[in-house]
Amino acid sequence: MNVPPGTAARGNQSFLAACRRERTPYTPVWLMRQAGRYMEEYRRLRAKFSFLDLCKRPDLAAEITVMPVERLGVDAAILFADILLLLEPMGVGLEYSKDDGPQIRNPVRSGADVRRLREFDPEKELSFVYEVVRKSRSALNGKVPLIGFSGAPFTLASYLIEGGTSRNFIHTKRLMHSDSSVWHDLMARLALAVGQYLNAQIAAGAQAVQLFDSWVGCLSPDDYREYVLPHSRSVIGGIQKGVPVIHFSTGTSGLLKEIRAAGGDVIGLDWRVDLDKGWESVGYDAGVQGNLDPAALFASPAEIRRRVGEILHRAGGRPGHIFNLGHGVLPDTPVEHVIAMVEAVHELSAR
Ligand code: CP3
Repeated sequence: MNVPPGTAARGNQSFLAACRRERTPYTPVWLMRQAGRYMEEYRRLRAKFSFLDLCKRPDLAAEITVMPVERLGVDAAILFADILLLLEPMGVGLEYSKDDGPQIRNPVRSGADVRRLREFDPEKELSFVYEVVRKSRSALNGKVPLIGFSGAPFTLASYLIEGGTSRNFIHTKRLMHSDSSVWHDLMARLALAVGQYLNAQIAAGAQAVQLFDSWVGCLSPDDYREYVLPHSRSVIGGIQKGVPVIHFSTGTSGLLKEIRAAGGDVIGLDWRVDLDKGWESVGYDAGVQGNLDPAALFASPAEIRRRVGEILHRAGGRPGHIFNLGHGVLPDTPVEHVIAMVEAVHELSAR
């Protein structure tokens, strides 16, 4: 692929340009969960350290942040951390168990539980995350931009209340539907912490931020508007001006206008919606990110390339498309297939 003169000296700016809906020489691509268990280099480190230890060792976390940039040739790096790190200082007992994924030892179920949550200053207590940002920026040396991230208030609340990943979100919805003042109190506290956390990542060097509202697709549009939208809007409205915000969710094909109304320069689309129809719902005054089915990476490289071409065709060369999966890379994904996907995006979108 031909890189225009000047591009190399400034590093690869295609991701940030696409966030601003500027024309780029090709469609930039990165993958949610691009650093993780499907990579042998990660598994080697993980054999020696627990996941939380890796997150809290800035030298190692920065090394993992940079790994996929070198191995896959993606156009952006994402900070190695986890959305649940922000919950640990609230005193609820965060653990990552081998089989059940993340667990909150003391879930929040009532007004009394919410009032017991420890008040904390994200700028002071999560300083190890900002150190990872600084070390990653320095290791990337301008090669590609670094994305910071946080869970969105709803998705964080769902972990706090359910105590882990959930299928039906019964406890979360029960609290929302039965005690709206406690619900809004909890969401306002989370929104405040998330905003401070993201701005501190930006101050440390994150060049864009992504808000993960992974599980908000479980809500009806009415519930989203009443119980979630104002809080997500307050987070996004408080982000340092000029820094692109990607607003990501899944299962929200029927909620895209509301997600956009809450804010974001770029809206994440999962694979359950055609990218062209999703973009039309979002509106062309925002960019979109997505939307290959992560399971498609188990197909042959030829089939992956065909599917990449289909998505690029739906984007129609419009500035503001960032290629990604519709959700994170799945464990056991063959790394060669991920590389084939990144190459296909770069080749088929070159203009
Ligand atoms: O994208 C990246 O590569 C950056 C790092 C990153 C991780 N988690 C590392 C991680 C990011 C952006 C996340 C976000 C995250 N974490 C989300 C939102 C994205 C999504 O997938 O919806 C959510 C819901 C979580 C919560 C979480 N953390 C779960 C459910 C799990 C266990 C199951 C799983 O998917 O791995 C984790 C653990 C986790 N977070 C791992 C990694 C690399 C695996 C830890 C291990 O090595 O065992």
